[in-house]
Amino acid sequence: AETATTSGVLDGRRVVVSAGGTREALDPVRFLGNRSSGKQGIALAQAAAQTGAEVELVAANVDSGLLAALPSSIAVTPVESTLDLQSAMQAAQPNADVIVMAAAVADYRPAEVHGAKLKKTGDEGMSLELVQNPDILAGLVADRIPGQFIVGFAAETGDADHPAHDYAVAKFRRKGADLLVFNDVSGNRAFGHDVTEVAVLAADGTEVVEVGEFSGSKDDVAQKVVSVIADRLPPVES
Ligand code: CTP
Ligand code: CA
Repeated sequence: AETATTSGVLDGRRVVVSAGGTREALDPVRFLGNRSSGKQGIALAQAAAQTGAEVELVAANVDSGLLAALPSSIAVTPVESTLDLQSAMQAAQPNADVIVMAAAVADYRPAEVHGAKLKKTGDEGMSLELVQNPDILAGLVADRIPGQFIVGFAAETGDADHPAHDYAVAKFRRKGADLLVFNDVSGNRAFGHDVTEVAVLAADGTEVVEVGEFSGSKDDVAQKVVSVIADRLPPVES
Protein backbone atom coordinates (compact mmCIF):
# COMPACT_ATOMS: atom_id res chain seq x y z
CA ALA A 1 0.00 0.00 0.00
CA GLU A 2 1.15 3.49 -0.84
CA THR A 3 2.14 6.05 1.75
CA ALA A 4 -0.27 8.94 2.01
CA THR A 5 0.32 12.53 2.95
CA THR A 6 -1.27 12.85 6.33
CA SER A 7 -1.68 16.49 7.10
CA GLY A 8 -4.20 19.05 6.03
CA VAL A 9 -7.72 20.29 6.55
CA LEU A 10 -8.87 17.21 8.46
CA ASP A 11 -5.86 16.96 10.79
CA GLY A 12 -6.78 15.01 13.88
CA ARG A 13 -10.41 14.43 12.82
CA ARG A 14 -11.88 10.97 13.08
CA VAL A 15 -13.84 10.09 9.95
CA VAL A 16 -15.98 7.02 9.38
CA VAL A 17 -17.00 6.24 5.80
CA SER A 18 -19.34 3.49 4.68
CA ALA A 19 -18.85 2.19 1.15
CA GLY A 20 -20.08 -0.53 -1.14
CA GLY A 21 -23.47 -2.17 -1.23
CA THR A 22 -25.19 -4.33 1.32
CA ARG A 23 -26.25 -7.91 0.56
CA GLU A 24 -29.24 -9.61 2.08
CA ALA A 25 -29.04 -13.37 2.42
CA LEU A 26 -31.87 -15.51 1.16
CA ASP A 27 -30.20 -18.81 1.97
CA PRO A 28 -26.54 -19.87 2.51
CA VAL A 29 -25.66 -19.39 -1.16
CA ARG A 30 -27.98 -16.63 -2.40
CA PHE A 31 -28.46 -12.96 -1.68
CA LEU A 32 -30.21 -9.81 -2.89
CA GLY A 33 -27.68 -7.11 -3.67
CA ASN A 34 -26.89 -4.05 -5.74
CA ARG A 35 -24.20 -2.99 -8.17
CA SER A 36 -22.38 -0.45 -6.02
CA SER A 37 -18.62 -0.91 -6.44
CA GLY A 38 -17.69 1.12 -3.36
CA LYS A 39 -15.29 3.24 -5.41
CA GLN A 40 -16.80 6.59 -4.41
CA GLY A 41 -16.69 5.73 -0.70
CA ILE A 42 -13.13 4.47 -1.04
CA ALA A 43 -12.12 7.67 -2.81
CA LEU A 44 -13.65 9.66 0.06
CA ALA A 45 -11.87 7.59 2.69
CA GLN A 46 -8.58 8.15 0.86
CA ALA A 47 -9.17 11.87 0.41
CA ALA A 48 -9.96 12.19 4.11
CA ALA A 49 -6.82 10.23 5.07
CA GLN A 50 -4.71 12.36 2.73
CA THR A 51 -5.86 15.48 4.53
CA GLY A 52 -4.92 14.23 7.97
CA ALA A 53 -8.01 12.37 9.16
CA GLU A 54 -7.93 9.12 11.08
CA VAL A 55 -10.20 7.00 8.88
CA GLU A 56 -12.32 3.91 9.37
CA LEU A 57 -13.84 2.44 6.21
CA VAL A 58 -16.88 0.26 6.78
CA ALA A 59 -16.86 -1.75 3.58
CA ALA A 60 -19.95 -3.60 2.44
CA ASN A 61 -18.92 -6.29 -0.04
CA VAL A 62 -16.16 -4.23 -1.62
CA ASP A 63 -13.80 -6.06 -3.96
CA SER A 64 -10.77 -7.26 -2.01
CA GLY A 65 -8.39 -5.85 -4.63
CA LEU A 66 -9.75 -2.36 -4.02
CA LEU A 67 -9.29 -2.79 -0.27
CA ALA A 68 -5.77 -4.16 -0.64
CA ALA A 69 -4.71 -1.00 -2.48
CA LEU A 70 -5.64 1.24 0.47
CA PRO A 71 -2.97 2.76 2.69
CA SER A 72 -2.59 0.72 5.86
CA SER A 73 -3.52 3.77 7.93
CA ILE A 74 -7.17 3.29 6.89
CA ALA A 75 -8.86 0.78 9.21
CA VAL A 76 -11.23 -1.45 7.26
CA THR A 77 -14.29 -3.07 8.84
CA PRO A 78 -15.90 -5.50 6.40
CA VAL A 79 -19.66 -6.02 6.56
CA GLU A 80 -22.21 -7.86 4.48
CA SER A 81 -25.84 -7.12 5.36
CA THR A 82 -27.62 -3.91 6.22
CA LEU A 83 -27.99 -4.99 9.85
CA ASP A 84 -24.20 -5.69 9.97
CA LEU A 85 -23.55 -2.26 8.52
CA GLN A 86 -25.87 -0.67 11.05
CA SER A 87 -24.04 -2.37 13.95
CA ALA A 88 -20.65 -1.27 12.63
CA MET A 89 -21.81 2.33 12.17
CA GLN A 90 -23.41 2.44 15.61
CA ALA A 91 -20.20 1.08 17.15
CA ALA A 92 -18.14 3.72 15.33
CA GLN A 93 -20.45 6.66 16.02
CA PRO A 94 -19.29 7.59 19.56
CA ASN A 95 -15.72 8.15 18.34
CA ALA A 96 -16.44 9.92 15.07
CA ASP A 97 -16.18 13.59 14.22
CA VAL A 98 -17.51 12.96 10.72
CA ILE A 99 -19.70 10.14 9.41
CA VAL A 100 -20.15 9.66 5.68
CA MET A 101 -22.83 7.22 4.51
CA ALA A 102 -21.66 6.50 0.98
CA ALA A 103 -22.84 2.87 1.01
CA ALA A 104 -25.76 1.74 -1.12
CA VAL A 105 -28.02 0.23 1.50
CA ALA A 106 -30.65 -2.38 0.64
CA ASP A 107 -34.05 -0.94 1.46
CA TYR A 108 -35.51 -4.42 2.06
CA ARG A 109 -34.33 -7.86 3.10
CA PRO A 110 -35.97 -11.28 2.85
CA ALA A 111 -38.39 -11.80 5.75
CA GLU A 112 -36.89 -15.22 6.29
CA VAL A 113 -33.30 -16.39 5.81
CA HIS A 114 -33.38 -20.11 5.01
CA GLY A 115 -30.82 -22.23 6.83
CA ALA A 116 -30.37 -24.60 3.91
CA LYS A 117 -30.15 -23.94 0.18
CA LEU A 118 -33.66 -23.51 -1.17
CA LYS A 119 -34.87 -26.16 -3.54
CA LYS A 120 -37.23 -25.62 -6.43
CA THR A 121 -40.75 -26.68 -5.66
CA GLY A 122 -43.00 -27.46 -8.63
CA ASP A 123 -43.08 -25.14 -11.64
CA GLU A 124 -45.26 -22.28 -10.41
CA GLY A 125 -42.54 -19.67 -9.79
CA MET A 126 -42.19 -18.20 -6.34
CA SER A 127 -42.69 -14.96 -4.49
CA LEU A 128 -40.46 -13.57 -1.85
CA GLU A 129 -41.59 -11.68 1.21
CA LEU A 130 -39.39 -8.71 2.06
CA VAL A 131 -39.27 -6.60 5.20
CA GLN A 132 -37.99 -3.05 5.41
CA ASN A 133 -34.45 -2.42 6.64
CA PRO A 134 -33.79 0.29 9.22
CA ASP A 135 -32.69 3.67 7.88
CA ILE A 136 -29.11 3.72 9.20
CA LEU A 137 -28.45 7.35 8.29
CA ALA A 138 -31.63 8.57 9.98
CA GLY A 139 -30.69 6.58 13.10
CA LEU A 140 -27.20 8.09 13.16
CA VAL A 141 -28.70 11.57 12.84
CA ALA A 142 -31.11 10.83 15.70
CA ASP A 143 -28.22 9.61 17.90
CA ARG A 144 -25.80 12.32 16.78
CA ILE A 145 -23.27 13.35 19.41
CA PRO A 146 -22.68 17.10 19.86
CA GLY A 147 -20.58 18.58 17.07
CA GLN A 148 -20.71 15.43 14.97
CA PHE A 149 -21.01 16.08 11.23
CA ILE A 150 -23.07 13.63 9.18
CA VAL A 151 -23.06 13.28 5.40
CA GLY A 152 -25.51 11.35 3.23
CA PHE A 153 -25.32 10.32 -0.38
CA ALA A 154 -28.13 9.90 -2.87
CA ALA A 155 -28.38 8.74 -6.44
CA GLU A 156 -31.59 10.37 -7.66
CA THR A 157 -33.60 10.13 -10.82
CA GLY A 158 -35.91 12.82 -12.12
CA ASP A 159 -39.26 12.17 -13.79
CA ALA A 160 -41.92 14.02 -15.77
CA ASP A 161 -43.12 15.85 -12.64
CA HIS A 162 -39.85 16.85 -10.97
CA PRO A 163 -36.14 17.07 -11.78
CA ALA A 164 -33.78 14.89 -9.71
CA HIS A 165 -32.71 17.98 -7.77
CA ASP A 166 -36.20 18.38 -6.24
CA TYR A 167 -36.14 14.80 -4.99
CA ALA A 168 -32.67 15.34 -3.54
CA VAL A 169 -33.85 18.42 -1.66
CA ALA A 170 -36.83 16.50 -0.27
CA LYS A 171 -34.56 13.62 0.77
CA PHE A 172 -32.12 15.98 2.43
CA ARG A 173 -34.95 17.51 4.49
CA ARG A 174 -36.22 14.05 5.41
CA LYS A 175 -32.83 12.72 6.52
CA GLY A 176 -31.68 15.69 8.58
CA ALA A 177 -27.98 15.19 7.76
CA ASP A 178 -25.56 18.11 7.52
CA LEU A 179 -24.76 17.49 3.86
CA LEU A 180 -26.26 15.47 1.06
CA VAL A 181 -24.06 14.62 -1.90
CA PHE A 182 -26.28 13.71 -4.79
CA ASN A 183 -25.85 12.61 -8.32
CA ASP A 184 -28.46 12.62 -10.99
CA VAL A 185 -28.65 9.09 -12.36
CA SER A 186 -31.58 9.75 -14.70
CA GLY A 187 -30.96 7.52 -17.72
CA ASN A 188 -28.67 5.16 -15.79
CA ARG A 189 -25.65 7.41 -15.92
CA ALA A 190 -23.74 6.60 -12.77
CA PHE A 191 -23.19 3.09 -11.51
CA GLY A 192 -19.74 1.68 -12.08
CA HIS A 193 -18.31 4.53 -14.17
CA ASP A 194 -15.08 6.31 -13.37
CA VAL A 195 -16.35 9.81 -14.05
CA THR A 196 -18.99 11.29 -11.85
CA GLU A 197 -20.92 14.50 -11.33
CA VAL A 198 -22.39 15.55 -7.99
CA ALA A 199 -24.15 18.44 -6.32
CA VAL A 200 -23.77 19.05 -2.60
CA LEU A 201 -26.72 20.25 -0.54
CA ALA A 202 -26.50 21.82 2.90
CA ALA A 203 -28.90 23.43 5.32
CA ASP A 204 -28.84 27.19 5.71
CA GLY A 205 -31.33 27.89 8.47
CA THR A 206 -34.58 26.44 7.15
CA GLU A 207 -33.43 26.66 3.54
CA VAL A 208 -31.67 23.93 1.58
CA VAL A 209 -28.82 25.41 -0.45
CA GLU A 210 -26.48 23.96 -3.02
CA VAL A 211 -22.95 24.54 -1.74
CA GLY A 212 -21.03 22.91 -4.55
CA GLU A 213 -21.26 21.18 -7.91
CA PHE A 214 -18.35 18.98 -8.88
CA SER A 215 -17.49 16.68 -11.73
CA GLY A 216 -14.50 14.59 -12.62
CA SER A 217 -12.99 11.35 -11.46
CA LYS A 218 -14.25 9.87 -8.22
CA ASP A 219 -10.96 10.96 -6.65
CA ASP A 220 -11.43 14.57 -7.84
CA VAL A 221 -14.99 14.63 -6.55
CA ALA A 222 -13.95 13.06 -3.25
CA GLN A 223 -11.31 15.73 -2.70
CA LYS A 224 -13.86 18.46 -3.37
CA VAL A 225 -16.42 16.90 -1.04
CA VAL A 226 -13.78 16.54 1.68
CA SER A 227 -12.93 20.22 1.37
CA VAL A 228 -16.62 21.15 1.68
CA ILE A 229 -16.84 18.98 4.81
CA ALA A 230 -13.69 20.55 6.27
CA ASP A 231 -15.02 24.06 5.60
CA ARG A 232 -18.27 23.32 7.40
CA LEU A 233 -16.95 21.38 10.40
CA PRO A 234 -17.29 23.00 13.78
CA PRO A 235 -13.85 24.06 15.13
CA VAL A 236 -11.85 21.50 17.13
CA GLU A 237 -12.40 21.88 20.87
CA SER A 238 -9.28 22.82 22.77
N1 CTP B 1 -29.40 4.93 3.80
C1 CTP B 1 -29.28 4.34 5.05
N2 CTP B 1 -30.10 3.30 5.41
C2 CTP B 1 -31.04 2.86 4.55
C3 CTP B 1 -31.18 3.46 3.27
C4 CTP B 1 -30.34 4.49 2.92
O1 CTP B 1 -28.43 4.77 5.83
N3 CTP B 1 -31.83 1.85 4.92
C5 CTP B 1 -28.52 6.07 3.46
C6 CTP B 1 -27.61 5.86 2.27
O2 CTP B 1 -26.35 5.34 2.67
C7 CTP B 1 -27.47 7.28 1.74
C8 CTP B 1 -28.79 7.92 2.07
O3 CTP B 1 -29.35 7.15 3.14
O4 CTP B 1 -26.47 8.01 2.42
C9 CTP B 1 -29.78 8.01 0.96
O5 CTP B 1 -30.03 6.71 0.47
P1 CTP B 1 -31.24 6.49 -0.54
O6 CTP B 1 -31.33 5.06 -0.90
O7 CTP B 1 -31.10 7.51 -1.63
O8 CTP B 1 -32.47 6.96 0.40
P2 CTP B 1 -33.80 6.22 0.84
O9 CTP B 1 -34.24 6.93 2.07
O10 CTP B 1 -33.61 4.75 0.92
O11 CTP B 1 -34.82 6.61 -0.30
P3 CTP B 1 -35.21 5.89 -1.72
O12 CTP B 1 -36.64 5.55 -1.58
O13 CTP B 1 -34.97 6.95 -2.74
O14 CTP B 1 -34.33 4.69 -1.90
CA1 CA C 1 -32.86 3.42 -0.80
